[in-house]
Amino acid sequence: MKLSRLCILVLALALILCAVPTSAQQRPADIESRINALLARMTLAEKLGQLQQLDGEGNGNFRPEHLDLIRKGLLGSTLNVRGAQRTNQLQHVAMEESRLKIPVLFGFDVIHGYRTIFPIPLAEASSWDPGLAERSASIAAQEARDAGVRWTFAPMLDIARDPRWGRITEGAGEDPYLASAFAGARVRGFQGTDYSAPQKILACAKHWVAYGAGEGGRDYNTTDLSENTLREIYFPPFKAAVDAGVGTVMSAFNDINGVPASANPFTLTRVLRNEWKFDGFVVSDYTSVKELINHGLAANDKDAARLALNAGVDMEMVSRLFNQHGPALLKEGQVSPATIDEAVRRILRIKFRLGLFDHPYTDEAREPNSLLKPESVSAAREIAGRSMVLLKNERQTLPLDKNIRSIAVIGPLADDRRAPLGWWAGDGREENTVTPLAGIRAKVSPQTKVGYAKGCEVKDSLTTGFPEAVALARESDVALVFVGESADMVGEAASRSSLDLPGRQMDLVKAIYETGKPTIVVLVNGRPPTIEWIVDNVPAILESWMGGSQAGNAIADIVFGDVNPGGKLPVTFPRTVGQVPIYYNHMNTGRPPEANNRYTSKYLDVPWTPLFPFGYGLSYTQFKITNLQLSAQSIPANGELQFRVQRLPVNGEVTVTVDVENVGKRAGDEVVQLYIRDVAASMTRPVKELKGFQRVTLQPGEKRRVEFVLTAAQLGFWNREMRFVVEPGEFKVMVGPNSEDLIETKFDVAGR
Ligand code: NOJ
Repeated sequence: MKLSRLCILVLALALILCAVPTSAQQRPADIESRINALLARMTLAEKLGQLQQLDGEGNGNFRPEHLDLIRKGLLGSTLNVRGAQRTNQLQHVAMEESRLKIPVLFGFDVIHGYRTIFPIPLAEASSWDPGLAERSASIAAQEARDAGVRWTFAPMLDIARDPRWGRITEGAGEDPYLASAFAGARVRGFQGTDYSAPQKILACAKHWVAYGAGEGGRDYNTTDLSENTLREIYFPPFKAAVDAGVGTVMSAFNDINGVPASANPFTLTRVLRNEWKFDGFVVSDYTSVKELINHGLAANDKDAARLALNAGVDMEMVSRLFNQHGPALLKEGQVSPATIDEAVRRILRIKFRLGLFDHPYTDEAREPNSLLKPESVSAAREIAGRSMVLLKNERQTLPLDKNIRSIAVIGPLADDRRAPLGWWAGDGREENTVTPLAGIRAKVSPQTKVGYAKGCEVKDSLTTGFPEAVALARESDVALVFVGESADMVGEAASRSSLDLPGRQMDLVKAIYETGKPTIVVLVNGRPPTIEWIVDNVPAILESWMGGSQAGNAIADIVFGDVNPGGKLPVTFPRTVGQVPIYYNHMNTGRPPEANNRYTSKYLDVPWTPLFPFGYGLSYTQFKITNLQLSAQSIPANGELQFRVQRLPVNGEVTVTVDVENVGKRAGDEVVQLYIRDVAASMTRPVKELKGFQRVTLQPGEKRRVEFVLTAAQLGFWNREMRFVVEPGEFKVMVGPNSEDLIETKFDVAGR
């Protein structure tokens, strides 16, 4: 009796202690009253100063003018300034020499690693394992934080259906469900549950919104999208980030249906703040406020500031129009004092939540030992291995034996230290990259002869290196050819009109293949390539993406069978660029291409099908997915569901189960994917929509029952009146290892 009372007492005490905020985690009411106190003391210039973010120098230094601006309270944030010592130097000025002692917020693009570089986000999405992205973001956060960075401009959440767009590399591909899972994971990885914690940083969901839908795949280009498409395809990853507690959002460069994203009240205020209740702040993308003039929305600088502020942009990146024109706009009543105060409030709120006021400095002693820790480096290797996708493997060409007599390592990307780091490589250094050649050399037996020939460059038209590469292949037992894109061919301002391998790389592959030696192509690239000839001819293809600092080791782990590949494509691979946009979750037409007659929706000169479908990827073992069952044949409709309703009746669910069995001889991973189709509705619906996935590891012969719960909310869509509804009728349920090889069944949503 006594003991149980004691237990209750201890438990109660523990509960009380948990409920008390830590010193850094302050109560919201306290934060708001501290903000009120500050706002009451701020001059207009100081308020506008909080809305300003300025760029440092590429090498991480601040600019001399920053010191003076901070001293005068005229600069709230910087980007690209990094390093514990430099950030502290600026912070000391803010905390000791400025009137109100408001700390500076240091932002930086930590997209897929700070110093330890992880695979590009598109690659991590290929793992179909959001837990990995959470881990890599968490390591990136720790490294960045120890280097004085408190805020990353990540995750990038743009759905991309057009591989010509270079920034497809930075996101999670074409699917809103998969991208939402990664969005939440990355936010949790960067921020944890409390971004004032010692190893965490503030995240930023970008680019709000539809930046990936630029016409023609051309960067920064206009978009023209229905509200349904925005809400169903482009918004969901951002909603997932907001639900995961993301502290900031970046407004995009592009125009959306005639209103640029950085002056768009519908997206910035109605959806983000009114519907989703986002209470952090919005930063514009780099000079996107000033660019409202080029868009033709603003007549001049002052107009641009007015439009952006009134639409809901809080902080201006790099251009200085809020500062320059804020006073006149207020005076003329074109912007209200409440709008300015609200923007300042949102920024200060996040600075308080970050704990910046109480702990403004970075411990300089930590930085040297915190970068590239052995455990971070080994995580980078593991994550890279789990992100790669085996596209073809005829006659078990892969894996290779480590004791093989000789290997020819060929291609312009076989020993390139820059390409694996990809775009936005944080503070990553080429000297820390393990190239494929180095990874292979480290893996094979001491007797194996590893020869290397570059063959050609990625981009130029010279073939003078071909004879050496061909000779090397001839004298070797096997040829591994590394082709793809250089780092500068992907990312921002890197749109391409062709998805073919650049330069003479395809000819190099052909020349090596013609030697008759077993040829394996390893792709090092940041977007889907058009490689139909390779797929038709070469026996084995590995999509290694841009795998980060440890790419070479991870490739060697797979090539020699220490790791069994299990990644799946998060984006459709076209046969030719002329098929773009090509994505799995398209609407049907009245004349589906499957029908065997001329007048159907297809091309005369190329099949309508992709080279590889969304969700595709092989393993060194084989799996069987069978026995698809549902818990119910019919579920009640919930009628109209408001999207804010979180809890749905339990009976508005159906449980989907399948058996997955490893029928091969090695342990391996399968990603079981669940798709649905709303067969007939008041609006046309996609032919398939991903609604669940699980990556499972199975031993040879092992069979497992995999279960998914489909909730009513997952069956809904935005109707003609822009209301989220679940409509009665038949739904197909499809399960399989990719978006095409599916077994299916169906159920009904019963009428009300
Ligand atoms: C422009 C890019 O669009 C954005 O993603 C990035 O965060 C900023 N520049 C800052 O570097």
